[in-house]
Amino acid sequence: MMKKVMLVTGGGDCPGLNAVIRSFVKRAHQENNYEVVGSIQSFNGILREPTEIKLLTSETVSGIHVLGGTIIGTTNKGGPFNWPVKKYDGTWETVDRSAEMIRKCQLLGIDAVVNIGGDGSQRISLKLFEQGLPIIGIPKTIDNDLAATDYTFGFQTAVQIATEALDKLVTTAASHNRLLIMEVMGRDGGWIALNCAIAGGAEACLIPEIPYDIQSVMKMLNERMKGGKGFAVIVIAEGAKPKDGTVSFEKRDEIGYENIKLSGAAVRLREELKNAGCDLDIRETVLGHLQRGGTPVAYDRILATQFGVKGFEMVKNEEFGKMVSYRHPNTISVPLEEAVKTRSISLDDNLIKTARGINICLGD
Ligand code: F6P
Repeated sequence: MMKKVMLVTGGGDCPGLNAVIRSFVKRAHQENNYEVVGSIQSFNGILREPTEIKLLTSETVSGIHVLGGTIIGTTNKGGPFNWPVKKYDGTWETVDRSAEMIRKCQLLGIDAVVNIGGDGSQRISLKLFEQGLPIIGIPKTIDNDLAATDYTFGFQTAVQIATEALDKLVTTAASHNRLLIMEVMGRDGGWIALNCAIAGGAEACLIPEIPYDIQSVMKMLNERMKGGKGFAVIVIAEGAKPKDGTVSFEKRDEIGYENIKLSGAAVRLREELKNAGCDLDIRETVLGHLQRGGTPVAYDRILATQFGVKGFEMVKNEEFGKMVSYRHPNTISVPLEEAVKTRSISLDDNLIKTARGINICLGD
């Protein structure tokens, strides 16, 4: 009997999403009795009337492993539990359409759902599973902050992009005798920042895990300038905060967008350095969504391809309520309860020791 599987990609786009879709479809088609479809823009496609669901054929997925983004679109707004509805007075409220969506899946003959996303998406997977939907998760995020997997695809691409940007900024810093600050993504984790700072040889790296003391950064800069180096580069994670301070963020009034939009860490650091007496010319660069765009590096394509194949095996074996995970060197499955947990860099992580070992100032 034919079986139908629906893929969704949720949250921020991430290099490697298309490689997962391709490998899942390729593996499913080896079985001859599986049809794979994709709901456009996460669950919003199936919730819309008329539904926006795309058949994923061999032709549709051919060659897409090299493409950034996701061919079935993504969103971090809406979804089954927070569907925005405009009220008569013009304001918005969100409604829970999860039961209706699960019924719709049954009516459309969907036997399994695969939710490719980060912790927010897997929280949705868990709630839907608890309500009876046969669902599995596949972990995705450039932030690499999911506790239940060694790595997520997209992360190595983000680190590569950030490192190449840092290399370029070093040449400008050195030519102009400036201090250049580069802000990278990562939410509450410093994974992208610390990896890129080590790869690119930054003088300081400020991460959410170590609230920084501006005097410690000033001390490093003064010593470096005394030593004759007239320039420096600092990598700061978007979620970094000063000692006794908070993260820097902006309010977004996009309907249905519920995340905290981290923003302004680099600009704030420049001000703090100036106030502390830094007399270098300072420029800041915010890498932003450049870190999520474009073609995935080979590592991410390989990891994503492994995740797609493993995801299909889990669907075939009806291992619902679980997420694919990478525990070197294997792909395994873990309960969704574990999948929703995030992780920061532990202070005794070898990356922290390595950074200290090459005199990168961590602001403490
Ligand atoms: O989780 C991925 C990520 O890129 C974070 O690093 C960042 O904080 C956030 O998404 C940005 O989200 P948006 O694309 O909604 O601005």
